[in-house]
Amino acid sequence: MRNPFAFGSPVSGLQFGDRIEETRFLVRRIGTGQNVVVTSPRRYGKTSLLLHAADEAQRIEHARVGVASLLRCSSRRDVAEEVTRAVVDGALGWLVGTAEQISDRLRRLPRVTPSLERDGWRLSLAVGAANETFLADIRRPVELLADSARDGVPVGLVLDEFQQVAEIDPQLGGFFKTLCDDLPGVSLVFAGSHQHMMERLFVGTGAALKNAAEPLSLTVIPESESVAFLQERMVAAGRSIDGRAAGLLYRLAHGIPHFVQLIAAAVYDRDVDAATEETVREAMVDVLSRQRADLASRYELLSPNHRRLVAGLAERPVRDPLSRASLVRFGLSAASAARARDALREREVIEFDADVGWRIADPIFEGWLRYGLPLDLGARIDASAIG
Ligand SMILES: Nc1ncnc2c1ncn2[C@@H]1O[C@H](COP(=O)(O)OP(=O)(O)O)[C@@H](O)[C@H]1O
Ligand SMILES: [Mg+2]
Repeated sequence: MRNPFAFGSPVSGLQFGDRIEETRFLVRRIGTGQNVVVTSPRRYGKTSLLLHAADEAQRIEHARVGVASLLRCSSRRDVAEEVTRAVVDGALGWLVGTAEQISDRLRRLPRVTPSLERDGWRLSLAVGAANETFLADIRRPVELLADSARDGVPVGLVLDEFQQVAEIDPQLGGFFKTLCDDLPGVSLVFAGSHQHMMERLFVGTGAALKNAAEPLSLTVIPESESVAFLQERMVAAGRSIDGRAAGLLYRLAHGIPHFVQLIAAAVYDRDVDAATEETVREAMVDVLSRQRADLASRYELLSPNHRRLVAGLAERPVRDPLSRASLVRFGLSAASAARARDALREREVIEFDADVGWRIADPIFEGWLRYGLPLDLGARIDASAIG
Protein backbone atom coordinates (compact mmCIF):
# COMPACT_ATOMS: atom_id res chain seq x y z
CA MET A 1 0.00 0.00 0.00
CA ARG A 2 1.31 3.43 -0.88
CA ASN A 3 1.54 6.10 1.76
CA PRO A 4 -1.88 7.81 1.72
CA PHE A 5 -0.35 11.19 2.57
CA ALA A 6 1.43 13.52 0.18
CA PHE A 7 3.40 16.70 0.49
CA GLY A 8 5.99 18.54 -1.55
CA SER A 9 3.75 19.32 -4.49
CA PRO A 10 0.15 20.48 -4.83
CA VAL A 11 -2.42 17.82 -3.97
CA SER A 12 -5.58 16.81 -5.79
CA GLY A 13 -8.20 14.07 -5.71
CA LEU A 14 -8.42 12.16 -2.44
CA GLN A 15 -5.33 13.85 -1.10
CA PHE A 16 -7.13 17.18 -1.28
CA GLY A 17 -9.45 17.74 1.67
CA ASP A 18 -11.95 20.38 2.74
CA ARG A 19 -11.64 23.95 1.44
CA ILE A 20 -15.28 23.68 0.41
CA GLU A 21 -16.23 27.29 1.13
CA GLU A 22 -13.07 28.66 -0.46
CA THR A 23 -13.58 26.54 -3.58
CA ARG A 24 -17.19 27.62 -3.90
CA PHE A 25 -16.21 31.27 -3.53
CA LEU A 26 -13.55 31.05 -6.23
CA VAL A 27 -15.78 29.12 -8.63
CA ARG A 28 -18.49 31.74 -8.22
CA ARG A 29 -16.13 34.64 -8.83
CA ILE A 30 -14.64 33.00 -11.90
CA GLY A 31 -18.16 32.32 -13.13
CA THR A 32 -19.05 35.98 -12.96
CA GLY A 33 -15.75 37.35 -14.25
CA GLN A 34 -14.66 38.94 -10.99
CA ASN A 35 -11.12 39.30 -9.72
CA VAL A 36 -9.83 37.76 -6.51
CA VAL A 37 -6.53 37.95 -4.66
CA VAL A 38 -5.66 34.88 -2.60
CA THR A 39 -2.93 35.26 0.01
CA SER A 40 -1.43 33.03 2.67
CA PRO A 41 2.01 32.04 3.83
CA ARG A 42 3.68 29.27 1.84
CA ARG A 43 2.42 25.70 2.32
CA TYR A 44 -1.09 26.60 3.39
CA GLY A 45 -2.46 25.07 0.19
CA LYS A 46 -2.92 27.96 -2.23
CA THR A 47 -1.77 26.17 -5.36
CA SER A 48 -3.77 23.05 -4.52
CA LEU A 49 -6.86 25.19 -3.95
CA LEU A 50 -6.35 27.16 -7.17
CA LEU A 51 -5.97 24.02 -9.28
CA HIS A 52 -9.00 22.46 -7.62
CA ALA A 53 -11.10 25.61 -8.10
CA ALA A 54 -10.00 25.89 -11.74
CA ASP A 55 -11.15 22.28 -12.34
CA GLU A 56 -14.41 22.90 -10.55
CA ALA A 57 -15.04 26.11 -12.49
CA GLN A 58 -14.56 24.13 -15.70
CA ARG A 59 -16.84 21.37 -14.49
CA ILE A 60 -19.60 23.48 -12.93
CA GLU A 61 -19.50 26.74 -14.88
CA HIS A 62 -18.00 25.31 -18.09
CA ALA A 63 -15.48 28.08 -17.69
CA ARG A 64 -12.20 28.32 -19.58
CA VAL A 65 -9.48 28.77 -17.01
CA GLY A 66 -5.74 29.03 -17.46
CA VAL A 67 -3.33 28.63 -14.56
CA ALA A 68 0.03 30.39 -14.72
CA SER A 69 2.74 30.22 -12.08
CA LEU A 70 5.13 33.14 -12.00
CA LEU A 71 7.48 31.36 -9.60
CA ARG A 72 10.25 30.87 -12.10
CA CYS A 73 9.68 34.12 -13.98
CA SER A 74 12.44 36.66 -13.63
CA SER A 75 11.67 38.95 -16.56
CA ARG A 76 8.68 40.34 -18.43
CA ARG A 77 9.49 37.99 -21.25
CA ASP A 78 9.19 34.99 -18.89
CA VAL A 79 5.84 36.33 -17.70
CA ALA A 80 4.65 36.69 -21.30
CA GLU A 81 5.66 33.12 -22.13
CA GLU A 82 4.06 31.68 -19.01
CA VAL A 83 0.80 33.61 -19.48
CA THR A 84 0.73 32.54 -23.12
CA ARG A 85 1.23 28.91 -22.15
CA ALA A 86 -1.52 29.11 -19.51
CA VAL A 87 -4.02 30.67 -21.89
CA VAL A 88 -3.20 28.77 -25.05
CA ASP A 89 -2.72 25.37 -23.46
CA GLY A 90 -4.83 25.49 -20.31
CA ALA A 91 -7.76 27.73 -21.06
CA LEU A 92 -8.17 27.47 -24.82
CA GLY A 93 -6.85 23.94 -25.24
CA TRP A 94 -5.08 24.96 -28.41
CA LEU A 95 -2.17 22.61 -28.08
CA VAL A 96 -4.08 19.56 -29.20
CA GLY A 97 -4.26 18.32 -32.76
CA THR A 98 -1.71 18.09 -35.51
CA ALA A 99 1.34 20.33 -35.61
CA GLU A 100 -0.27 22.09 -38.54
CA GLN A 101 -3.48 22.78 -36.66
CA ILE A 102 -1.52 24.10 -33.73
CA SER A 103 0.62 26.42 -35.83
CA ASP A 104 -2.52 27.60 -37.54
CA ARG A 105 -4.20 28.57 -34.28
CA LEU A 106 -1.04 30.21 -33.03
CA ARG A 107 -1.08 32.60 -35.98
CA ARG A 108 -3.18 34.79 -33.80
CA LEU A 109 -0.10 35.22 -31.62
CA PRO A 110 2.39 36.30 -34.29
CA ARG A 111 5.46 36.41 -32.09
CA VAL A 112 4.96 33.02 -30.47
CA THR A 113 6.85 30.07 -31.90
CA PRO A 114 5.80 26.57 -30.87
CA SER A 115 8.30 23.76 -30.69
CA LEU A 116 7.75 20.16 -29.67
CA GLU A 117 9.95 19.12 -26.76
CA ARG A 118 10.13 15.91 -24.82
CA ASP A 119 7.55 17.01 -22.26
CA GLY A 120 5.17 18.56 -24.78
CA TRP A 121 4.83 21.81 -26.63
CA ARG A 122 6.96 24.75 -25.71
CA LEU A 123 6.07 28.28 -26.63
CA SER A 124 8.79 30.83 -27.00
CA LEU A 125 8.63 34.47 -27.80
CA ALA A 126 10.67 36.14 -30.47
CA VAL A 127 12.91 38.95 -29.26
CA GLY A 128 12.60 42.05 -31.37
CA ALA A 129 13.77 45.58 -30.76
CA ALA A 130 16.38 46.36 -28.11
CA ASN A 131 14.05 48.17 -25.72
CA GLU A 132 11.31 45.61 -26.08
CA THR A 133 8.73 45.89 -23.29
CA PHE A 134 6.93 42.54 -23.77
CA LEU A 135 3.81 44.12 -22.31
CA ALA A 136 1.86 43.59 -25.53
CA ASP A 137 2.93 39.96 -25.39
CA ILE A 138 1.45 39.53 -21.94
CA ARG A 139 -1.70 41.30 -23.00
CA ARG A 140 -2.41 39.55 -26.30
CA PRO A 141 -3.12 36.04 -24.97
CA VAL A 142 -5.36 37.49 -22.24
CA GLU A 143 -7.27 39.40 -24.93
CA LEU A 144 -7.68 36.17 -26.87
CA LEU A 145 -9.12 34.60 -23.76
CA ALA A 146 -11.49 37.55 -23.37
CA ASP A 147 -12.55 37.20 -27.03
CA SER A 148 -13.33 33.56 -26.45
CA ALA A 149 -15.90 34.64 -23.85
CA ARG A 150 -18.10 36.10 -26.58
CA ASP A 151 -20.08 32.87 -26.65
CA GLY A 152 -21.10 33.50 -23.04
CA VAL A 153 -18.65 31.08 -21.46
CA PRO A 154 -16.91 32.51 -18.37
CA VAL A 155 -13.16 32.84 -18.62
CA GLY A 156 -10.48 33.12 -15.98
CA LEU A 157 -6.75 33.38 -15.60
CA VAL A 158 -5.05 32.34 -12.39
CA LEU A 159 -1.71 33.99 -11.67
CA ASP A 160 -0.01 31.99 -8.92
CA GLU A 161 3.11 33.31 -7.17
CA PHE A 162 2.09 36.77 -8.27
CA GLN A 163 4.38 38.39 -5.67
CA GLN A 164 7.16 37.76 -8.21
CA VAL A 165 5.77 40.65 -10.21
CA ALA A 166 7.03 43.06 -7.55
CA GLU A 167 10.51 41.57 -7.93
CA ILE A 168 10.57 41.78 -11.70
CA ASP A 169 9.88 45.48 -12.02
CA PRO A 170 7.94 48.26 -10.38
CA GLN A 171 5.73 48.99 -13.39
CA LEU A 172 4.37 45.50 -13.88
CA GLY A 173 1.78 45.78 -11.10
CA GLY A 174 0.27 48.85 -12.76
CA PHE A 175 0.20 47.04 -16.08
CA PHE A 176 -1.93 44.26 -14.58
CA LYS A 177 -4.23 46.90 -13.13
CA THR A 178 -4.78 48.26 -16.65
CA LEU A 179 -5.47 44.74 -17.84
CA CYS A 180 -8.14 44.35 -15.14
CA ASP A 181 -9.75 47.63 -16.16
CA ASP A 182 -9.65 46.96 -19.89
CA LEU A 183 -10.86 43.37 -19.78
CA PRO A 184 -13.68 43.32 -17.24
CA GLY A 185 -15.03 40.01 -18.56
CA VAL A 186 -11.94 38.05 -17.56
CA SER A 187 -11.70 36.87 -13.97
CA LEU A 188 -8.12 37.35 -12.84
CA VAL A 189 -7.21 35.33 -9.78
CA PHE A 190 -3.99 36.61 -8.23
CA ALA A 191 -2.33 34.46 -5.60
CA GLY A 192 0.82 34.81 -3.59
CA SER A 193 2.70 34.29 -0.39
CA HIS A 194 5.00 36.83 1.24
CA GLN A 195 2.27 38.81 2.89
CA HIS A 196 4.09 42.12 2.93
CA MET A 197 4.89 41.97 -0.78
CA MET A 198 1.31 41.13 -1.68
CA GLU A 199 0.18 43.97 0.56
CA ARG A 200 2.49 46.34 -1.23
CA LEU A 201 0.79 45.37 -4.51
CA PHE A 202 -2.84 45.25 -3.36
CA VAL A 203 -3.38 47.30 -0.21
CA GLY A 204 -2.26 50.61 1.20
CA THR A 205 -1.59 53.93 -0.37
CA GLY A 206 0.14 53.75 -3.71
CA ALA A 207 -0.55 50.03 -4.19
CA ALA A 208 -0.73 49.48 -7.95
CA LEU A 209 -3.61 47.02 -7.74
CA LYS A 210 -5.53 48.64 -4.92
CA ASN A 211 -9.21 47.62 -5.07
CA ALA A 212 -8.58 45.62 -8.24
CA ALA A 213 -9.49 42.29 -6.65
CA GLU A 214 -11.52 40.94 -3.77
CA PRO A 215 -9.28 39.48 -1.05
CA LEU A 216 -9.41 35.89 0.15
CA SER A 217 -6.87 35.10 2.84
CA LEU A 218 -6.35 31.42 3.25
CA THR A 219 -5.97 30.27 6.84
CA VAL A 220 -5.21 26.78 8.09
CA ILE A 221 -7.85 24.07 7.71
CA PRO A 222 -9.79 23.84 11.02
CA GLU A 223 -8.76 21.10 13.47
CA SER A 224 -11.99 19.09 13.33
CA GLU A 225 -11.85 18.88 9.54
CA SER A 226 -8.17 17.97 9.50
CA VAL A 227 -8.70 15.27 12.12
CA ALA A 228 -11.54 13.79 10.06
CA PHE A 229 -9.33 13.94 6.95
CA LEU A 230 -6.46 12.17 8.73
CA GLN A 231 -8.74 9.45 10.03
CA GLU A 232 -10.39 8.87 6.65
CA ARG A 233 -7.08 8.63 4.83
CA MET A 234 -5.73 6.17 7.39
CA VAL A 235 -8.84 4.02 7.19
CA ALA A 236 -8.66 4.06 3.39
CA ALA A 237 -5.16 2.61 3.78
CA GLY A 238 -6.38 -0.13 6.13
CA ARG A 239 -5.08 1.54 9.31
CA SER A 240 -6.41 3.92 11.92
CA ILE A 241 -5.41 6.88 14.07
CA ASP A 242 -7.33 7.80 17.19
CA GLY A 243 -8.81 11.25 17.70
CA ARG A 244 -6.34 12.36 20.37
CA ALA A 245 -3.40 11.29 18.23
CA ALA A 246 -4.76 13.15 15.21
CA GLY A 247 -5.34 16.23 17.40
CA LEU A 248 -1.77 16.11 18.68
CA LEU A 249 -0.49 15.73 15.12
CA TYR A 250 -2.53 18.77 14.05
CA ARG A 251 -1.12 20.87 16.88
CA LEU A 252 2.45 19.79 16.22
CA ALA A 253 1.92 20.88 12.60
CA HIS A 254 0.42 24.24 13.69
CA GLY A 255 -2.50 23.11 11.54
CA ILE A 256 -0.58 23.95 8.36
CA PRO A 257 -1.72 21.51 5.65
CA HIS A 258 1.79 20.75 4.37
CA PHE A 259 3.08 19.84 7.83
CA VAL A 260 -0.08 17.93 8.70
CA GLN A 261 0.56 15.69 5.69
CA LEU A 262 4.30 15.53 6.34
CA ILE A 263 3.92 14.30 9.92
CA ALA A 264 1.01 12.04 8.93
CA ALA A 265 3.20 10.40 6.28
CA ALA A 266 5.82 9.76 8.99
CA VAL A 267 3.12 8.27 11.24
CA TYR A 268 2.09 5.95 8.40
CA ASP A 269 5.74 4.98 7.89
CA ARG A 270 5.90 3.71 11.48
CA ASP A 271 3.85 0.74 10.26
CA VAL A 272 1.48 0.43 13.17
CA ASP A 273 -2.14 -0.60 12.63
CA ALA A 274 -3.64 1.78 15.16
CA ALA A 275 -1.66 5.00 15.63
CA THR A 276 -1.78 6.62 19.07
CA GLU A 277 -0.27 9.80 20.54
CA GLU A 278 2.85 7.76 21.20
CA THR A 279 3.13 6.93 17.48
CA VAL A 280 2.74 10.61 16.61
CA ARG A 281 5.54 11.57 19.03
CA GLU A 282 7.82 8.91 17.59
CA ALA A 283 6.98 10.08 14.06
CA MET A 284 7.85 13.64 15.02
CA VAL A 285 11.23 12.40 16.30
CA ASP A 286 11.74 10.63 12.95
CA VAL A 287 11.04 13.86 11.06
CA LEU A 288 13.27 15.97 13.31
CA SER A 289 16.10 13.44 13.12
CA ARG A 290 15.90 13.18 9.34
CA GLN A 291 16.01 16.95 8.90
CA ARG A 292 18.54 17.56 11.66
CA ALA A 293 21.40 18.78 9.46
CA ASP A 294 19.19 21.21 7.54
CA LEU A 295 17.56 22.51 10.67
CA ALA A 296 20.93 23.03 12.35
CA SER A 297 22.28 24.97 9.40
CA ARG A 298 19.16 27.10 9.30
CA TYR A 299 19.89 28.02 12.90
CA GLU A 300 23.59 28.59 12.25
CA LEU A 301 22.76 31.12 9.55
CA LEU A 302 21.10 33.36 12.13
CA SER A 303 22.95 36.12 13.97
CA PRO A 304 23.47 35.66 17.75
CA ASN A 305 20.57 37.97 18.67
CA HIS A 306 18.26 36.26 16.21
CA ARG A 307 19.27 32.90 17.68
CA ARG A 308 18.38 34.07 21.17
CA LEU A 309 14.95 35.20 20.05
CA VAL A 310 14.12 32.05 18.06
CA ALA A 311 15.34 29.75 20.83
CA GLY A 312 13.26 31.68 23.35
CA LEU A 313 10.12 31.69 21.21
CA ALA A 314 10.52 27.99 20.46
CA GLU A 315 10.71 27.25 24.14
CA ARG A 316 7.50 29.20 24.70
CA PRO A 317 5.59 31.61 22.43
CA VAL A 318 4.87 35.01 23.98
CA ARG A 319 2.35 37.76 23.39
CA ASP A 320 4.85 40.50 24.14
CA PRO A 321 8.48 39.74 23.32
CA LEU A 322 9.47 43.16 24.67
CA SER A 323 8.04 42.67 28.15
CA ARG A 324 10.59 42.70 30.94
CA ALA A 325 10.10 38.97 31.66
CA SER A 326 10.57 38.07 27.97
CA LEU A 327 13.71 40.19 27.66
CA VAL A 328 15.23 38.53 30.72
CA ARG A 329 14.41 35.11 29.31
CA PHE A 330 15.87 35.92 25.87
CA GLY A 331 18.87 37.75 27.29
CA LEU A 332 18.23 40.68 24.93
CA SER A 333 17.83 44.44 25.32
CA ALA A 334 14.50 45.92 24.23
CA ALA A 335 16.08 47.52 21.17
CA SER A 336 17.80 44.31 20.04
CA ALA A 337 14.67 42.25 20.65
CA ALA A 338 12.57 44.70 18.61
CA ARG A 339 15.08 44.63 15.75
CA ALA A 340 15.29 40.84 15.81
CA ARG A 341 11.50 40.51 15.90
CA ASP A 342 11.03 42.82 12.92
CA ALA A 343 13.77 41.22 10.83
CA LEU A 344 12.62 37.67 11.56
CA ARG A 345 9.00 38.52 10.89
CA GLU A 346 9.96 40.10 7.55
CA ARG A 347 11.71 36.84 6.62
CA GLU A 348 8.71 34.85 7.87
CA VAL A 349 10.85 32.94 10.38
CA ILE A 350 8.49 34.05 13.15
CA GLU A 351 4.83 35.05 13.07
CA PHE A 352 2.15 36.39 15.33
CA ASP A 353 -0.58 33.86 16.00
CA ALA A 354 -3.78 35.22 17.53
CA ASP A 355 -4.10 32.25 19.91
CA VAL A 356 -0.57 31.86 21.24
CA GLY A 357 1.30 35.06 20.34
CA TRP A 358 4.72 35.29 18.68
CA ARG A 359 6.07 31.91 17.66
CA ILE A 360 8.31 30.12 15.16
CA ALA A 361 6.42 29.92 11.86
CA ASP A 362 7.78 26.55 10.72
CA PRO A 363 6.60 23.89 13.18
CA ILE A 364 9.45 21.50 12.32
CA PHE A 365 12.03 24.19 12.98
CA GLU A 366 10.19 25.00 16.19
CA GLY A 367 10.28 21.34 17.21
CA TRP A 368 13.97 21.07 16.50
CA LEU A 369 14.77 24.25 18.43
CA ARG A 370 12.72 22.99 21.33
CA TYR A 371 13.77 19.34 21.48
CA GLY A 372 16.86 18.96 19.30
CA LEU A 373 18.91 22.10 19.88
CA PRO A 374 19.78 21.43 23.53
CA LEU A 375 21.07 17.94 22.71
CA ASP A 376 24.61 16.92 21.94
CA LEU A 377 25.27 15.99 18.38
CA GLY A 378 23.98 12.52 17.68
CA ALA A 379 21.90 12.20 20.86
CA ARG A 380 18.43 10.85 20.26
CA ILE A 381 15.48 13.16 20.87
CA ASP A 382 13.28 11.88 23.67
CA ALA A 383 9.85 11.21 22.17
CA SER A 384 8.07 11.36 25.51
CA ALA A 385 9.03 15.05 25.86
CA ILE A 386 7.15 16.01 22.69
CA GLY A 387 3.76 17.60 22.75
N1 LIG B 1 -6.82 20.97 0.76
C1 LIG B 1 -5.79 20.24 1.22
N2 LIG B 1 -5.98 19.07 1.85
C2 LIG B 1 -4.96 18.35 2.33
N3 LIG B 1 -3.68 18.72 2.21
C3 LIG B 1 -3.40 19.89 1.61
C4 LIG B 1 -4.44 20.69 1.08
N4 LIG B 1 -3.87 21.79 0.53
C5 LIG B 1 -2.55 21.66 0.70
N5 LIG B 1 -2.25 20.51 1.33
C6 LIG B 1 -0.89 20.07 1.75
O1 LIG B 1 -0.04 21.20 1.79
C7 LIG B 1 1.03 21.08 0.84
C8 LIG B 1 1.32 22.43 0.22
O2 LIG B 1 0.24 22.79 -0.63
P1 LIG B 1 0.39 23.89 -1.77
O3 LIG B 1 -0.92 23.94 -2.46
O4 LIG B 1 1.60 23.63 -2.59
O5 LIG B 1 0.59 25.20 -0.86
P2 LIG B 1 1.05 26.67 -1.26
O6 LIG B 1 0.79 26.86 -2.71
O7 LIG B 1 0.23 27.57 -0.39
O8 LIG B 1 2.51 26.76 -0.90
C9 LIG B 1 0.57 20.01 -0.14
O9 LIG B 1 1.67 19.33 -0.70
C10 LIG B 1 -0.25 19.10 0.75
O10 LIG B 1 0.61 18.24 1.48
MG1 LIG C 1 2.02 27.34 -4.26
